[in-house]
Amino acid sequence: MRSWLYPFALCVTFAAVAARMPKFSWDTVPVFNHMANVSGPFNDEAVRILARFPLVTFEKMQGASLSPCCSEDKIVEAAKQIKATNSSVITIFYLNSVLDFTNYRLHEELLKRPELFLRNASGDIVRIHPGKSPELLNVFDFSQEAARNLWANDCINATKSGYVDGCFADRAGEEAFAHNKLTPEKATAYANGHDQVLQDVQKSLGDNVLIANNYLLSGVTATMIEAFRSNEESIQRLQEAVSQKKLVEVHAGYFDSCKNITDTLAAFLIGAGDYSYYACSAGWTANEIHTDWLTWHPEYDKPLGKPTGPATKEGDVYTRHFASGTVATFDTKTNKGDIKWAEA
Ligand SMILES: *[C@@H]1O[C@H](CO)[C@@H](O)[C@H](O)[C@H]1NC(C)=O
Ligand SMILES: *[C@@H]1O[C@H](CO)[C@@H](O)[C@H](O)[C@H]1NC(C)=O
Ligand SMILES: *[C@@H]1O[C@H](CO)[C@@H](O)[C@H](O)[C@H]1NC(C)=O
Ligand SMILES: *[C@@H]1O[C@H](CO)[C@@H](O)[C@H](O)[C@H]1NC(C)=O
Ligand SMILES: *[C@@H]1O[C@H](CO)[C@@H](O)[C@H](O)[C@H]1NC(C)=O
Repeated sequence: MRSWLYPFALCVTFAAVAARMPKFSWDTVPVFNHMANVSGPFNDEAVRILARFPLVTFEKMQGASLSPCCSEDKIVEAAKQIKATNSSVITIFYLNSVLDFTNYRLHEELLKRPELFLRNASGDIVRIHPGKSPELLNVFDFSQEAARNLWANDCINATKSGYVDGCFADRAGEEAFAHNKLTPEKATAYANGHDQVLQDVQKSLGDNVLIANNYLLSGVTATMIEAFRSNEESIQRLQEAVSQKKLVEVHAGYFDSCKNITDTLAAFLIGAGDYSYYACSAGWTANEIHTDWLTWHPEYDKPLGKPTGPATKEGDVYTRHFASGTVATFDTKTNKGDIKWAEA
């Protein structure tokens, strides 16, 4: 009986730990992708390009112009498109961990439970603008377990589709609510609950990726540096995340050009560790104006190889050598980088 059951039990165990990290290799610059096609499903050319990235997040506005609801389904559809072309791509579901975007099914669930929206010290529902948009959005009250469970389930349910591997938590470390003040008790309970929901989701995901944007949280595997720029502060932020063994998405392009990526890419190469990935974009969608996410830069095919060690700094200049012979330097006075690529 026992010997008959044993292989079966083994099978079950394997199925439960089918968790996967994205492919990581130093052979060439490790890169990631993160965007939405607001108009609808990706075209064949976009799918072909996206399938080359080991790690792809689908943003909240995926397919948003098709119908007001539901981003969950559109993201799953987009992930399915990419997986059909390359099943090795690790696909990530976008969820904001502060703002209740109205194009999610999660929003409709919350409307049925308005007591789960965060309230300020005057008892009014906290409403804040997403970025520059005039729209006002509610906030999940993560001091309440029911709100944490609803949010966590939105991510976990997407992974059950079989096409989504992990999740991206935007505004992960943010606890400022514009002009709203919370009672001190609520502020503490909210902050703790916000961390807890991320840690709970990571536990459910096991070794699959949860990316906490701009936030290093124990118990969460990955982070994104959203506004990486060509300066020493960004390099040090990357080095810190690497020293904490995080998977790090390094997103440049808010302050530096994505036409010529030399400066930010050199800064990335100075700080990168295992499971650090680079990208450059001005925005988060794929359209005629923002072609950044569908641009495969020639640098991405150059020979790199493992770093021979951490970067060294002499005077103002960092230098790092890679196994192929490629050498990256970064001058912290001028904030300019240089990469001497080895011959292919
Ligand atoms: C975006 O979606 C629309 C509608 O599906 C499609 O016509 C367009 O080619 C897509 N663009 C990209 C870059 O995939
Ligand atoms: C599929 O993804 C893997 C992992 O990122 C990559 O090594 C491979 O080149 C990709 N294949 C295609 C055809 O894009
Ligand atoms: C879970 O996902 C499925 C499709 O992937 C969807 O039909 C269903 O409504 C989702 N359930 C919840 C509670 O979000
Ligand atoms: C709570 O929100 C209301 C409505 O926006 C605002 O008038 C009030 O000043 C806020 N109270 C606190 C304590 O932030
Ligand atoms: C790209 O930027 C690097 C570093 O700032 C600079 O040395 C190089 O001349 C630039 N290349 C082009 C084609 O402008």
